[in-house]
Amino acid sequence: MIQIPRGTYDVLPEDAFKWQKIEAAAREICARFNYKELRTPLFESTALFQRGVGDTTDIVQKEMYSFKDRGGRELTLRPEGTASIVRAYVENKLHGDPNQPQKLYYIGPMFRYERPQAGRNRQFTQFGCEALGSADPSIDAEVISLAMTFYQTLGLKKLKLVLNSLGDPESRKAHRDALIAHFKPSIGEFCDDCQQRLEKNPLRILDCKADHHHPLMATAPSIIDYLNDASRDYFNKVKAILDEMGIDYELDPTLVRGLDYYNHTTFEIMGASQGAITTLMGGGRYNGLVSELGGPETPGIGFALSIERLLLALDVEGISLNSDPALDCFVVAIGEAAEQKAPVLLNRLRLAGLTADKDYIGRKVKGQFKQADRDKAKFVVVVGDEELEQEKAVVKNMADGSQEAVAFKDLTDYLKEKI
Ligand code: HAM
Repeated sequence: MIQIPRGTYDVLPEDAFKWQKIEAAAREICARFNYKELRTPLFESTALFQRGVGDTTDIVQKEMYSFKDRGGRELTLRPEGTASIVRAYVENKLHGDPNQPQKLYYIGPMFRYERPQAGRNRQFTQFGCEALGSADPSIDAEVISLAMTFYQTLGLKKLKLVLNSLGDPESRKAHRDALIAHFKPSIGEFCDDCQQRLEKNPLRILDCKADHHHPLMATAPSIIDYLNDASRDYFNKVKAILDEMGIDYELDPTLVRGLDYYNHTTFEIMGASQGAITTLMGGGRYNGLVSELGGPETPGIGFALSIERLLLALDVEGISLNSDPALDCFVVAIGEAAEQKAPVLLNRLRLAGLTADKDYIGRKVKGQFKQADRDKAKFVVVVGDEELEQEKAVVKNMADGSQEAVAFKDLTDYLKEKI
């Protein structure tokens, strides 16, 4: 038997219902905050992620599903959504739209070749928001509030917002020099990747999974000490708005994030978890990315979270989203003539907007009623020879067991009124 690829999973119908609820909540909250959906392809030119996410990142170096298509093009299954959104923003000239900032969202699968465990999949589904075209600190607070509101709407309580600032390019340059000076004398004790990263992008050393416990990690220079006045001022404004909104946060100067495009505000939301993974969501500001990808100098900020990790957090907090919808009615047919009539009645009910079904595998009457129970049918419409003759069906209310004869022609009106 051919099995599902490692790090992927099927969402069976009983769980798909939860997914639909979560996705509906995401769309509803985006509407409240006035974010509009932008759908991009699942694969893009490999160069987009090399340039956008950064070619010293783990994502680009180790985790991408890249391939050549039959025309020899270098393509990659998207590992994240931001680079694609920015590409689409530039390519469709959304910067020329008077509607600014462009407030966009997406829900869809992402692909990373990671070591699978609970909350870490090779195909996972991100819900993300990106606001392009505003450098106002209130938009930083807005995207954070949007993510918090989303989690809270679904019932999560054990949430912790962690906040940092990576500053502007000048601050980052000063910090970069300090990092090189800090790690250089002992870089031989670090993994090959980190040795490569030292000159190219020393910030990446700080989120190396292999060298996580090296003592020099804990004593590394903190970005917060290198923020220039403008960066510090910006960060203070973001914090002040969050304070006023009553959104609690913890400052963490080691929060550097695993993608290269960030500057200024970065943040993550941590949640309750049984396993090692607690980061539910991550995001930040990326003011240089639009111009890096060929557009005009444009500020941007956003976040992404995965539905997989959200589901784990809901489980840990004991929140069940399961309420499989009940069927309005189930048509039970007794005898050959009734079996002929049942699909016609059923179709009429469905066209009238009711959710309805019948048996298709030749069950006896008792078996048909059992199926009606499995479908949580509110009403069962019974048709037999006698009913056919009188052009009536017996309608049984499954909640109280009462039943009534209803003419075929009145059936939809009768049921619609009862439901
Ligand atoms: P990221 O931190 O790489 O950021 O991923 C964001 C979220 O995606 C994580 O917090 C986690 O919930 C989920 N996630 C990542 N990898 C996996 C995985 N292998 N399995 C399950 N869930 C996963 C980004 O992707 C940025 N694009 C976020 C962003 C948007 N920054 C600005 N705008």
